[in-house]
Amino acid sequence: MKIAIVGCGYVADYYMLTLRNHPDLALAGVYDRRSERMKVFASFHKVPVYPSLAALLEDPEVEMVLNLTNPGSHYDVSKAALESGKHVYSEKPLAMSVEDGEDLVRIAHARGLAITAAPCSILGEAALAAGQAIRDGRLGQVRLAYAEMEDSMVFREHFRDWHSPSGAPWPAHDEFAVGCTLEHAGYYLTWLCAFFGPATEVTAFSARLFDEKNLPSPPGGWAGDFSVTCLRFGGGVVARLTCGLAAPRDRSLHVVGTEGTMTVTDGWNYRSGVWLRDAEGRPRSRIPKLPQAIGRLERYLPGRHWLGERLALRPSAAITPGFPSRMDFSRGPAATARALKQGRDLPMPADFALHITELALVAQDAGRFPSPYKPRSSFSSLPLLD
Ligand SMILES: NC(=O)c1ccc[n+]([C@@H]2O[C@H](COP(=O)([O-])OP(=O)(O)OC[C@H]3O[C@@H](n4cnc5c(N)ncnc54)[C@H](O)[C@@H]3O)[C@@H](O)[C@H]2O)c1
Repeated sequence: MKIAIVGCGYVADYYMLTLRNHPDLALAGVYDRRSERMKVFASFHKVPVYPSLAALLEDPEVEMVLNLTNPGSHYDVSKAALESGKHVYSEKPLAMSVEDGEDLVRIAHARGLAITAAPCSILGEAALAAGQAIRDGRLGQVRLAYAEMEDSMVFREHFRDWHSPSGAPWPAHDEFAVGCTLEHAGYYLTWLCAFFGPATEVTAFSARLFDEKNLPSPPGGWAGDFSVTCLRFGGGVVARLTCGLAAPRDRSLHVVGTEGTMTVTDGWNYRSGVWLRDAEGRPRSRIPKLPQAIGRLERYLPGRHWLGERLALRPSAAITPGFPSRMDFSRGPAATARALKQGRDLPMPADFALHITELALVAQDAGRFPSPYKPRSSFSSLPLLD
């Protein structure tokens, strides 16, 4: 499928890198409203540019637009793309308000077009293995999940030195103004909703803990940099998701069932370790006496205890960026394009993307929403991914 990219910033380089994993996607060209950035990006990657967004949207060859602009531009760019008859794959969030997200989904449905949003890490090998273990009953009945999206105090790091391969600076100002929850909650919200279905009730708390971000703050101040969100799912599963820019870096997921527990070490690594333990938290292993040995060792080790039976992941030779984002960013657009070509259900349909966006918006800015919050959006179960 022919695609075009709008937004040639930091993350666009990671899409370019991972497009190599998906020869079915052919890039027709790119556009960015900052022409200097667009030129540098295009010459680095040797790709054609469009003189304007309108020119990109008028290109009849382009079937899907990858909207890699800043969150504040997502709605406008995606809407324009849909109104030009293009499918849309948007970076997260789908939009900056539930109403705008609903509007995009309505336009897409009315025109028979697809719209969906990143992250696509539920297509990663670790998420697929974790989902399969849950469906296979390896944990018994799941009752609880703890998901961490702690990014540590990145605002005290040398973020001004962080550049993507083509030289785009890490957009610190936008990241802190949008908020780490809206930026990161989706990574595990997609997993939780893919595993347990739509959330039926949300109780969230959010706060801003640090006013000093080593940058001039925007007029309304920085967005919240900490949130805790409790979610209830239809089947009775309860989850707690924490997002922050304060506590030490931690991107783990623990899922607790009646017969076992499962830990994913790093949700930003498609090939993260996925570990099983028994319900009492003892490591499982096929190697005799290893569980006892680990148990003894752990008495003297501080911190959380993860190791156990390591689930086998399906093989993949996909290229990914290095730490911290070992993710195949282009897998979402590629899987969407494949499903469209084959007339199959989309891996992450519009209703799913809207639901994730609504939950992330509530988590980011809990004080603006009733508590407990009943989500307006929902989705039917996702197709089983192959
Ligand atoms: N930075 C990361 O590590 C990272 C990782 C994963 C996802 N994301 C997501 O990717 C998206 C983009 O983030 P980024 O880090 O690349 O930001 P960025 O600021 O580096 O790049 C965004 C680019 O979009 C362009 N742009 C904005 N509005 C536009 C418009 N209306 N028309 C044309 N161009 C427009 C900007 O000029 C800029 O070059 C965000 O939604 C972010 O949440 C970022």
